[in-house]
Amino acid sequence: MAVLVTGGAGFIGSHTVVQLLEHGEEIVILDNFSNSSPDVLDKIRQISGKDFKFYEGDMRDKELLKRLFEENKIEAVIHFAGLKAVGESVEKPLDYYDNNINGTLCVLEAMKASGCKKMIFSSSATVYGNDNKVPFTEDMKTSATNPYGWTKVFIEHILEGVCTSDKEFSAVLLRYFNPIGAHKSGLIGEKPNGIPNNLMPYIVKVANGEYDHLNVFGDDYDTPDGTGVRDYIHVVDLADGHIAALEYARKNNGVQTVNLGTGRGTSVLELVRAFEKASGKKVPYVIAPRRAGDIAECYADVSKAKEILGWQAKYDVDDMCKDNARWALKL
Ligand code: NAD
Ligand code: UD1
Repeated sequence: MAVLVTGGAGFIGSHTVVQLLEHGEEIVILDNFSNSSPDVLDKIRQISGKDFKFYEGDMRDKELLKRLFEENKIEAVIHFAGLKAVGESVEKPLDYYDNNINGTLCVLEAMKASGCKKMIFSSSATVYGNDNKVPFTEDMKTSATNPYGWTKVFIEHILEGVCTSDKEFSAVLLRYFNPIGAHKSGLIGEKPNGIPNNLMPYIVKVANGEYDHLNVFGDDYDTPDGTGVRDYIHVVDLADGHIAALEYARKNNGVQTVNLGTGRGTSVLELVRAFEKASGKKVPYVIAPRRAGDIAECYADVSKAKEILGWQAKYDVDDMCKDNARWALKL
């Protein structure tokens, strides 16, 4: 029996496939390379010394999905495929709803037709919206402030509905906090297209001289140094969280929602300093106005992940910066 990884050529998917292969799993990847490139597949083989099956195509292609499920015995789906840029989702809401929600429905229909009843879904801390107090716990009310966030909220509800209707179905909704870092080999990592929106990829481009400074979005938040606080998590820790979730889904039916974070908050300036220390490069910055839609603090209560999945993050921000610098600056 194989595990289907949708979006397996992407940032988090590629790291998860490496960990799954090392865990002895048989893997099938589906990706349309809309935000990744084929060379990642060779890098995964190089790191793991193992092979997997690959289907190039869109998860909304029903014929392709039908063939994929006929040609392979899929036990579980780890579902990463989706569009993820918040700003772009505001400009192109229909593309986001179609790709993320309709795409998920197509995967779920193909699973239903073949009797596959386990899904691990990539949700996000973004579903905690703007009104909850940190640390965020899984039972808090969810909401969103942009179409990307709504796709995560809706897909969570869709999977709850599937589990209500089919008592043998198992869905683990993993709410990721802020994944950064890269594989220790330096062979895979995050490769954002265009101008990065997120902090770590932007820091990298300042450190390598592509941009002359970082804009720090606000230094007047109610946080220890006034800059925004986030729960950064090493992408390899996050990948291991999926193995724990898969093992959980193999033993339990129904829906479970679990935060994947470290439980620790790091400010923008703390991350800048940690990156400078890890890379030996300067990251000049200027204080800029707050970014619309940002919250002061976002970090997880991680007790449920430990209790239910027996998983907790191992790496700290210094490890994340070291591995990120090795990958992105080829140090
Ligand atoms: P990514 O863009 O690197 O990976 C997503 C992969 O899915 C890409 O390889 C892309 O080509 C593929 N894909 C997209 N639409 C597809 C489609 N219709 N058919 C087939 N393949 C398709 O993103 P990532 O950072 O690895 O994120 C993975 C998942 O985790 C996403 O669902 C994202 O929303 C979620 N997530 C990411 C973060 C983050 O900060 N990176 C945080 C929370 C949640
Ligand atoms: C962003 C997304 C969120 C998503 C999360 C993880 C937005 C509005 N939100 O949130 O939906 O779930 O990534 O992928 O895009 N910062 C700077 N300068 C920069 C970039 C960021 O100061 O150039 C600050 C931000 O204000 C924030 C922190 O760095 O305080 C982290 O920002 P970012 O990496 O974009 O993540 P989130 O804000 O958590």
